[in-house]
Parts: sequence; structure tokens; C-alpha cells
Amino acid sequence: MSDTIAPEFDYARLPEAGGHVFTAPLRRPDLVGADWLEPAQRAYGADEHAVWDELFARQMQVLPGRAASAFMTGLERLDLGRGGVPDFARLSAELGALTGWSVVPVPSLIPDHIFFWHLANRRFPAGNFIRSRQCFDYIQEPDVFHDVFGHVPMLTDPMFADYMQEYGRAGWKAMKYNRLKALGALYWYTVEFGLLLEHGEVRAYGAGILSGPTETVYSVSAASPNRIMLHVDRVMRTDYVIDDLQPTYFVIESFADLYHQTVERDFDRLYRSLGPGFTYANTAVIDVDDVLQRGTQEYWLRGGRGSGAEPV
Ligand SMILES: [Fe+2]
Repeated sequence: MSDTIAPEFDYARLPEAGGHVFTAPLRRPDLVGADWLEPAQRAYGADEHAVWDELFARQMQVLPGRAASAFMTGLERLDLGRGGVPDFARLSAELGALTGWSVVPVPSLIPDHIFFWHLANRRFPAGNFIRSRQCFDYIQEPDVFHDVFGHVPMLTDPMFADYMQEYGRAGWKAMKYNRLKALGALYWYTVEFGLLLEHGEVRAYGAGILSGPTETVYSVSAASPNRIMLHVDRVMRTDYVIDDLQPTYFVIESFADLYHQTVERDFDRLYRSLGPGFTYANTAVIDVDDVLQRGTQEYWLRGGRGSGAEPV
């Protein structure tokens, strides 16, 4: 009899989502296979490389003092400002030497179960296209700037890199219990819109924040949003906003804390106790919250995006 416990799932194999699991009805382009990988990274034109450079320069105006130091270190180590859209092969070689991750090209959004499979195997799927100048400030689908500039620097941090892999593995269990919404909220409030305490100051590490100037400033200094210390169970019960600034951010003490909270939580028990929908509104503050700042919600009360409200 073996004294090692066999893993519950085989993470190396492409998972089946199963008919009971709701996944977005995405149409697979003809050029991509079952793994949803594009045959190669796109060849970008001079103007597309210039769009990267301008977006990069704009972010560098606002990131110092607001982005987590792990993110700034990652940007520097990968030299993402060397000019133009980074070459994925070179980036993967450099990132691979640091934490064993690689960057692979996909046609923007991909199905959840495919996404989990790549993360569980330390591959980060990055959108192949870059936004046009008409959509400089806001895009609905993640492009190469959001994916590479926003996400890849954090993958140079060993603890965060391990968290991302564990997140991918957690997808199998979420599919088993049909609780992808709950697991999606965890991704949203950490990988995309996470804040971190650094020497008592709030800093951003989420890619959804750090790939745009408005939310970089708003997330760490505006009076409108709530800032609440992260607790995995609370976050997985909380609704979120996909097309505007967040009414609430969750703050971690360290990447080690985030990793341990996630890996040591018994997700079988958690999923059995969760309903299929969210319990808490995205503006809610509840009595057990450890609140750093209770937001005024002024931006939201004035109507949010499209109303002309200032992100204050
Ligand atoms: Fe993202």
C-alpha cells in the first residue's frame, strides 16, 4: 500500500467541463485546436508597437507609489519597456528561468476549463491582439497590453506564481460542484483587482487595476470604494462589477497569506455551503469585515461610468 495520497484530479490532462457546468458559449476559431492556443504570436505593425509604447509610458506616470513593489520589480526584471509588444518566446524564456511560467498566445477570451488547465500547468494565456487607438482607454476583451503588462510581472514573484497555479487547480473542484461563479469572484478580487498592504500603505497588484491609469489612482486613494481585508470565504460570496470601477476592493497582508488562505481552505466544505448565486452585493460592508476604509460610494451614487461622475 502506498503511503502517498493520490491527487484527486489529473491536472496534466485537458479537463472536461461537463454538461452540468455553465461556461460562456464561446466559439472556437478555426485556427485554434482543443487547447485554444493560436499557432503563433501575431506579427504586429509599427503602429501597434507604438500603441504598446504609449500605453506603457502612460502607466509609468501613475504606477510609482501606487503599484505593489513586486509588480514594479517584475516589470523591471522582464524589461517590458524595452520597446514594442514583447516577444512571447523571449518573455517565456526569461520568466521560465525565474518561476517556471510561460506566456502562450490565445484569441482573447477562452473557456474557463481551458484557462484553468493552462494555469495549472504554469502557462499564462495572453490575448494576441492589441487594442486600437479608438479603444485606448477601455476595452471589453483583454488584449496583449492588459494580459502581458498587467499580469505577467506578478508571475515573477514565486509566491504569487504558486498562487496562480493553485488557482488553476482549484478550477477542477469548482467544476465538480458547479461553483465557477464563486471561484471567479476570487480571481476578480485578487488577480484582477487585488490590493496589498505594504509597510502600512495600500498598494495595487491586480492586473485590472494596473493596466489602466484611472483605476490605478482610484483603487488606492479614492474615498468612494470600500477597502476590506481579504477573507477567502467572504470574497467568494461577493458579487463584482465587470465594466466599471469597483465599489469594493479586498486587501491582503502578503502573497504568502493569500496563498495559504487558498491552499489550506477546505474547498469541498466551502462549496457545499455556498448557494449558486452571490450572497453579498458588491457595495456591502458586513459586521464581520475587517474594514480599512468604509467607502462613501459617491462615484456609484452619482451614476458611475457614462454619467460623467468623477472617480473620487
Ligand atoms: Fe486579466
